[in-house]
Formats: sequence, structure tokens, C-alpha cells
Amino acid sequence: MRNFDEKNITDAVIARLADSPSPRVQQISASLVRHLHDFVREIEPTQAEWEQAIDFLTRTGQMCSSTRQEFILLSDALGVSMLVDAINHRLPGTATETTVLGPFYVQHAPEVARGTRIAGPGEGPALLIEGSVRSVDGQPLADASVDIWHADDAGFYDVQKDGAKLSGRARVRTDADGNFWVIGAVPAAYPIPNDGPVGQMLDAQGRHPFRPAHVHFMVAAPGHETLVTHLFLAVSDYLDSDVVFGVKDSLIEMLGTAAPGTTPYGAVVETPMPVLRRDFVLGRGLSGAAA
Ligand code: BEZ
Ligand code: FE
Repeated sequence: MRNFDEKNITDAVIARLADSPSPRVQQISASLVRHLHDFVREIEPTQAEWEQAIDFLTRTGQMCSSTRQEFILLSDALGVSMLVDAINHRLPGTATETTVLGPFYVQHAPEVARGTRIAGPGEGPALLIEGSVRSVDGQPLADASVDIWHADDAGFYDVQKDGAKLSGRARVRTDADGNFWVIGAVPAAYPIPNDGPVGQMLDAQGRHPFRPAHVHFMVAAPGHETLVTHLFLAVSDYLDSDVVFGVKDSLIEMLGTAAPGTTPYGAVVETPMPVLRRDFVLGRGLSGAAA
């Protein structure tokens, strides 16, 4: 076939997929071509705009390194990461809701004993982070692994600081009753990395780059879906305009004040301290072998 035009080129490209050895590749490719062609027909780009788009994608790729993933950031800022997350986590009603992983997760964070102070005094007011891990049937999950990471009170993660050692992050395990606790620092709201193409896109779209203050959690237990989520601080700015669309009502928490003594989770508190508390509930599944 020859002589393709605005009307027949879409079907012609899709017809070329007929011999794909993978039905899934064929389905994805056909859908991509259909939607992409419809998008181009709708916006009718000038040649200069098309070149600008190619340049944007080229620079997005060039910005990527072992410590920077600009394409994931693009996916985050366009709401695609949260859409993929929603499609893949149609969880039972009682399971804790999920949200984006983000670029500041570090695999194999040091495992610490319950009660360890995981953030230095220069990183913000001490924050007791405590809670429990249960199955949807209410069963406490002992020895579950709980990865915790958060920004400091200036809005920076440890991995964003020059030569800094890991801080504001750790892995802790639950006790026999499914409880855990560590002492971190009260985090601040912060902008996502915006010195690259995604930052330029946000500027062009008239959007701010901020995320509300939050603490990240990854909770894993054998026989359960690994939970990737955050708790957002109820007093934070940007809860209604998170640049990556990650906020869910069920994940917003008011900070309490832990009084001196022992908390219901077994945390030992010497002086009154703000506390972020959550009982996490994991859905049953195969993906959660605790590492
Ligand atoms: C974060 O919360 O760490 C994050 C998530 C998505 C994009 C950038 C940062
Ligand atoms: Fe974060």
C-alpha cells in the first residue's frame, strides 16, 4: 500500500502489526498508534512544535542518570504514575491505600532496632513515627519489614545532599504484636527536582512543583501485597495541589503529641514529642516476601 494521507495512515500502521509474535505487543502498539495519531490530528502541531516535542523528549532522556530518572518524573507530573498505581492496586476496602514510590527510595536501607533515632538533630524537630502492620483479617504481622524515608525540615532527602550519609530513612521490623516505632524528624513540603525538562514543562503549564509534607513507607510481609504509600501531614500546604497527584484523604494524618511514658505501640518517650501514628493493613497476595 502507498499514498498514505491523514485519513488512512492510522489503519496502515496498525495493519503492519499483524505478524507480531506477541498478542500483547500487538495490542499495546495498535492502541499507542491509534491514540497518538488521534492526538496529533486533534492538536495539529506545526513542524516547529513537533521539533520542540522531539527536543523535549531528547533532553528528558539526556537528563537521566543513575541518580535521576526524568522520565519517571514526567510520568509522575502528568498523573500517569498514579493512574498505573490505581490500576494495579484495586485493593480490598480495608487495606491501606497506596501512592507513588518517588525517586528517593533507596533499596537495602540499613535495618535498625525499633526505637532508633533515624534523623539527626539538625534535620528538624524529633518526630515519633509508630504504628502496626496487620492483615485484612486483623491478624498482627510479626517481623514485617517497614521501610521509612522522609525529607528534612528544609525539604531535602539525604540522597540530595552532597556526600551525605543515609539519614531520615531506615528499615525496621515489627515486633510479635505487629508494632514498630522509630524517631525521625518533622518533614517539610518540598519541590520535586525542577531544574530539568519537567520543571520547564511545569513552568510552561503554569504549575508549581511542590509536594505536601509527607513520610514514605514500604511495608512487606510474606503472603501479602507489598504496600508502597505515604502519610501526609494534615497541616501541610499543597494537599489539594500535589504536583504528582499522590494525595488521598485516607493517608492524611494529624500529628499528635506523645506524652512521657510508654505508648500503646511500645515506644518509650522521655519528653513530649510530636507523633505520627498509623495502623497499616496489607492485602493478601504473593508479592510481599519480606527482604
Ligand atoms: C517523593 O515523594 O519523594 C516524590 C514523588 C514523585 C516525584 C518526586 C518526588
Ligand atoms: Fe517524598
